[in-house]
Amino acid sequence: MHSLATRPLKRNDAQVSMSKDYLNAAIEIAEEAGKILREEFDRPMQIAYKGDVDLVTQADKRSEQAIVARLTKYFPEHSIAAEEGSGHEGGSEFRWHVDPLDGTTNFAHGYPCFAVSIALAQRGALLAGVVYNPFYEELFAAARGGGATLNGKRIFASKVDTLSTSLLCTGFPVHKRLATPNIHYYWDFTLRSHGVRRDGSAALDLASVAAGRFDGFWEFGLKPWDTAAGVLLIEEAGGKVSDFAGQPYQLGGAVILATNGLIHDEAREVALEISHRDPAAPLRR
Ligand code: IPD
Ligand code: CA
Ligand code: CA
Repeated sequence: MHSLATRPLKRNDAQVSMSKDYLNAAIEIAEEAGKILREEFDRPMQIAYKGDVDLVTQADKRSEQAIVARLTKYFPEHSIAAEEGSGHEGGSEFRWHVDPLDGTTNFAHGYPCFAVSIALAQRGALLAGVVYNPFYEELFAAARGGGATLNGKRIFASKVDTLSTSLLCTGFPVHKRLATPNIHYYWDFTLRSHGVRRDGSAALDLASVAAGRFDGFWEFGLKPWDTAAGVLLIEEAGGKVSDFAGQPYQLGGAVILATNGLIHDEAREVALEISHRDPAAPLRR
């Protein structure tokens, strides 16, 4: 687990401008990877299995190869943590978190809800993040202190202020499927909101909270590359990210709760209540 992702940072103009330079590099690289995903999306799929239902395609691998090569060229000292394992440890305090294809199951089935997710953290503090859906050509981007955008236009979390009128989303893991308690949360939150969507890409789910399309999101067991870019997007869009106890979310933490900020406490209390009721919940393990 990495150190605090949401540690508040006081940033001066020079720091914001540095984050924007990193962001521009991440955007260029995400767009290059996006081209590869689009190409592969139109071809017959080559699917392999990492687990029972944990798929990996030629697209995951090609995309990661392109991203890691370009990041290494631009930032040779930086560390890279990439899902398919081609990253490396560098000598600096900077670490890139790379999901070359978030939403692989969707991709493999021809459902165009997938994205490239790339983020940079310095000693655990997120500086820049991009989530790019190349099918719909939607590019979500954020630099610490510089706001969040969708295709260059500022985005903000929604103004919905009660759970009962909110639209939520969540996700389910592709490994250890029987161990997740999430179906209990899914059921309860469904009854207490306008509904809960399950779109199959955590990076896009988080980006959608940042853009005000969803009012909140939660999931168990996500990896740093699933969440890093989305977390920064939400913070820069005025939303809030924590665990169920209200502690700042840490990259790789057991659970993430990300909302527009206005429904955060209400959602958190409901989640805590469910976790106390449900013997399979992670807080009681
Ligand atoms: C998955 C997606 C999905 C989430 C899973 C992740 P992948 O990532 O983000 O929405 O529910 O937990 O593993 O495997 O498609 O990169
Ligand atoms: Ca992922
Ligand atoms: Ca992936």
